[in-house]
Amino acid sequence: MEVLAHESRAAVAQAATGRIIDLMANAPDRFNLGLAGGSTPEATYQLLRDQGSGWDNVDAWLSDERWASPDSERSNGRMASEVLFDHVDANLVRPEWSGATTPQQSAENYETELRSLFGDRKPDVVMLGMGDDGHTASLFPGTEMLDVRDSWYTAGHVPQQCEDRLTATYPLLWNARLIIVLAVGANKASAVRASFDGNTPAGLLGEGDAIVEWYLDRESASELG
Ligand code: 6PG
Repeated sequence: MEVLAHESRAAVAQAATGRIIDLMANAPDRFNLGLAGGSTPEATYQLLRDQGSGWDNVDAWLSDERWASPDSERSNGRMASEVLFDHVDANLVRPEWSGATTPQQSAENYETELRSLFGDRKPDVVMLGMGDDGHTASLFPGTEMLDVRDSWYTAGHVPQQCEDRLTATYPLLWNARLIIVLAVGANKASAVRASFDGNTPAGLLGEGDAIVEWYLDRESASELG
């Protein structure tokens, strides 16, 4: 796993944007982009909206989602849509949510949709964040979702968040060409250190074939020495 340390969170967003735009521009086929949840990627989504092009060639999907209505403030898909995907002509596929289905059924249906979308291609880039406990996507410490190896997408209850989550599993994440981890702020510093010691869910991202690049600011990189 590679560290790309920057002076500020604004510099992290600009660097990640430049990396993604460069890969989009050079994609030989459609460009497959996994999206991070949480708040950190919002600045990158805004810059991608301002600076990106060729969006009609992009297939985007969510590396995880909270089990909440599509228009909920909790929804990762809502944030990505409002900041970026409502403004460009990319193809964004989001998990279904309704009172008539369960989180696990939605995860299974989403996996079927993703497999159809991907065909024989790998995700070109998967953007991920990391929590201050070292979780990534919705792969939280102590949850069974960490251990799923026979599917690409799963669901489960996350007691730390008091909610059900849907998440890409390690097999899907490890299948990407490139994983970009966005982690900024002093509150992430100890989890970054623990991740590079292999002691967090985010620290296992490097166990597959994907190249893993960590985009850090001075604060989140401060315990790496
Ligand atoms: C989610 C995310 C999660 C997020 C981290 C960091 O749905 O919450 O996918 O993994 O990336 O919790 O969140 P912040 O960027 O808000 O710190």
